[in-house]
Amino acid sequence: MKTLVLGTADFSMPYLCTQVGIKNLSISDICETPLHVCNFIANTESYRWRTFQSDVLTGIDGIYDVIVNDAFLTRFDYDTKRCVLAQIADSLMNDGKYITTIRKGWRGGAPVIPDTAEQVEFVRNAVSAAYKRGIPVEKVEQAAKDYIAKMVSYPISNEDMLKKLCNGIFEIEAISTITTTGECAETVYFEIVLSKN
Ligand SMILES: C[S@@+](CC[C@H](N)C(=O)[O-])C[C@H]1O[C@@H](n2cnc3c(N)ncnc32)[C@H](O)[C@@H]1O
Repeated sequence: MKTLVLGTADFSMPYLCTQVGIKNLSISDICETPLHVCNFIANTESYRWRTFQSDVLTGIDGIYDVIVNDAFLTRFDYDTKRCVLAQIADSLMNDGKYITTIRKGWRGGAPVIPDTAEQVEFVRNAVSAAYKRGIPVEKVEQAAKDYIAKMVSYPISNEDMLKKLCNGIFEIEAISTITTTGECAETVYFEIVLSKN
């Protein structure tokens, strides 16, 4: 079974896939940094992970049985989410599945941007984690500030909105909700399995 982790951010999703026995694993991201991290982990642990850089909006290399990611669609604005879904469907076999999460919590179409207090808390947590692990604190502090200053989410309201986004591209095979601690605040996500139409 060919599986792609699309937009990995770090090595956790590929690691979880490996833990459940997925052998034929590819990993892609628009950003090289998480791919370097995954290559480092793969070399250290002798995992056979194939990594490649790509922008989902210009197409995905290969055809897969399963594409999986976490909080990926949430990052794209409302005009772009359907283009992303269409590109993902194009890279799936006819009976392929897209397994993902998407943030819940409609703000009348307004994006969610962490407020100043949330940004300060995020940076404080990153610095504290770096300090405990002996990682250079100044570098982490700057990286955390840069990351959180750019973080924007575009959540959806309900299952109906998801159905409209998927219309003609995917069927919703399973959907449930989960509350997570989130990067800045407690956040509700839909956990979804989509099947290609
Ligand atoms: C929100 S993160 C993925 C979720 C991650 N598990 C997390 O919670 O941080 C989004 C990932 O998608 C990648 N990404 C953003 N835009 C992309 C695009 N157009 N094509 C491919 N990957 C993209 C980012 O570089 C990042 O690694």
